[in-house]
Amino acid sequence: MKTLSKIDFQNIKSVGIRVDFNVPIDENFNVTDETRLLRAIDTINFIKEKKCKILLISHFGRPKDNFESKYSFQNLIEQFSNILNEKINLIPYEYFLQKGLVKFQQFKENISLLDNIRFFKGEKINDLIFSKNITDHLDLYVNEAFSASHRSHASVNQMVKNIQSLPGFNFEKEIIAIDEIKNSSKKKLAIIGGSKVSTKINTLLSLTKSCSNIFIGGAMANNFLKFKDIPIGNSLLEEGSEKMIEEIYHNAKKFSCEIHLPLDVITDKFEKYLINKLPLDSNFKILDLSDISINLLDNLISKSEIVLWNGPMGMIENENFAYGSSKLASLLANSPSQVVIGGGDTLLAINIAGINFDQFHFVSTAGGAFLEALEDKQLPGVEALNLS
Ligand code: 3PG
Repeated sequence: MKTLSKIDFQNIKSVGIRVDFNVPIDENFNVTDETRLLRAIDTINFIKEKKCKILLISHFGRPKDNFESKYSFQNLIEQFSNILNEKINLIPYEYFLQKGLVKFQQFKENISLLDNIRFFKGEKINDLIFSKNITDHLDLYVNEAFSASHRSHASVNQMVKNIQSLPGFNFEKEIIAIDEIKNSSKKKLAIIGGSKVSTKINTLLSLTKSCSNIFIGGAMANNFLKFKDIPIGNSLLEEGSEKMIEEIYHNAKKFSCEIHLPLDVITDKFEKYLINKLPLDSNFKILDLSDISINLLDNLISKSEIVLWNGPMGMIENENFAYGSSKLASLLANSPSQVVIGGGDTLLAINIAGINFDQFHFVSTAGGAFLEALEDKQLPGVEALNLS
């Protein structure tokens, strides 16, 4: 893979780094999770040591194509400077519209952050002219935003094509971890939770090709249980999921992948039921996994060399139903298998369990990009880097 560490910086003075500073905040604009900022530090520091001027580019939320103060980095720049331990200069939206980056080299700060790239229409339409207004002032471009690389946007696709471009250090790790899940011949287990089959159908279809076992948990599993004529009361269901489930079982059979479902569950009334002993009435909702399902997971994990986990096993927004996800997080933290974890809610489940991300082989901060990268397609941001 082309890598940043092998680049000759002799003629490189200005570097653009596409980061993902789309961090979670509270109602007072306090950053509530610094992980995404910290993941970019190695790349930023490496380039800083080469004495280059750095232009950071990121999106934040999903604003329309115009300035919206609640999506501006004005609210966050001071916290970013503190967390990254370096004074970062904000290039405001209006300033960029009027002057572009002509004076970029003369800014006294070494690191500047352009205000939310999604304020600019050219970003979302992957516009060449807009992208050149930025890359014409740079000597090198680094994509350190794997989590945004499923978008066909200028900052992850077109800018990469304009000048010499490379993946950042964390981006490299994301690619390697996903490649191992898709292509290594080691025995693999995927544990997939969350609420909707439709958002993960393509990922699941692809995983049936590379995994020996898939465990389905979370509200998504309700659809699979119903498909097998198991009474699920008033549990969350996705209309029209039968066809997708049929397709998943069809693929699983074809590629010798075994699909596993919960064996016992916890309901909204805190009652534990074996799946084949669930009541026939509709006065309950399945909200979590219970111990026999956890034992099954333990068993499957111990038989696997690589384990992928995406999506909570229960309704973790309510801590009473975070039992299954917490138990799973600690099984994985103590497993000798190579554990790769991805997806925002999954990271929340690990935080609830009080487990440090260092205890896993790799934890991806990507949500949609992580799932799409597991499918049989290339992400626009990865394809543009032309890594092979
Ligand atoms: C994410 O939070 O998954 C990334 O920042 C991408 O954000 P998006 O889904 O708004 O493109």
